[in-house]
Amino acid sequence: MRYPEISKILVPEDELRRTVGRLAAAINLSYRDLEKELMVVGLLRGSFIFMADLVRQLEVPLVVDFMTLSSYGDGTVSSGDVKVVMDLDSSIENRDVLLVEDIVDTGRTFSKVVRMLQNRNPRSLKVCSLLSKPSARVVEVHIDFCGLEIANEFAVGYGLDYRQRFRNLPYIGVIDPP
Ligand code: PRP
Repeated sequence: MRYPEISKILVPEDELRRTVGRLAAAINLSYRDLEKELMVVGLLRGSFIFMADLVRQLEVPLVVDFMTLSSYGDGTVSSGDVKVVMDLDSSIENRDVLLVEDIVDTGRTFSKVVRMLQNRNPRSLKVCSLLSKPSARVVEVHIDFCGLEIANEFAVGYGLDYRQRFRNLPYIGVIDPP
């Protein structure tokens, strides 16, 4: 194995492809009567690979923007202190917004960003997450488009990191942090 820290593969590449396809189909259906283009907002850095694959399967006119939030720092446990490191470039007022996240863990990041974006009066706001860890939830959040539910293990790869590493893995693996 190239990465001895990876104890197992949780979601192999073909399952990721099928999951992204399923999410894209549901999103295409949901926005089929869109008036203006969809604004797809990615949360950096974790969502960059998932979002790149997802938007290429969306058939509705869209624009993209990004926000950087941070809650984990370098650790493996969410600190609860969610910081806005970089805000959106454009206004979302009266826009249809789809927020894209790699994983909803405690739910703190999502609930903070959803509240923040709702205050900016979008026309609609829906949320999509590739992964969800229901057993780790501290704050309840509604996910409109959810890819896969996983157990309370530390997932890395396909954008997700441990201390900024492993984001480039083409699959989702599990590490046992020291
Ligand atoms: C990770 C992940 C989510 C968040 C989920 O981000 O990408 O944004 O934590 O955790 P929560 O539901 O417990 O809030 P992180 O802060 O590690 O930054 P990253 O996106 O750069 O990896």
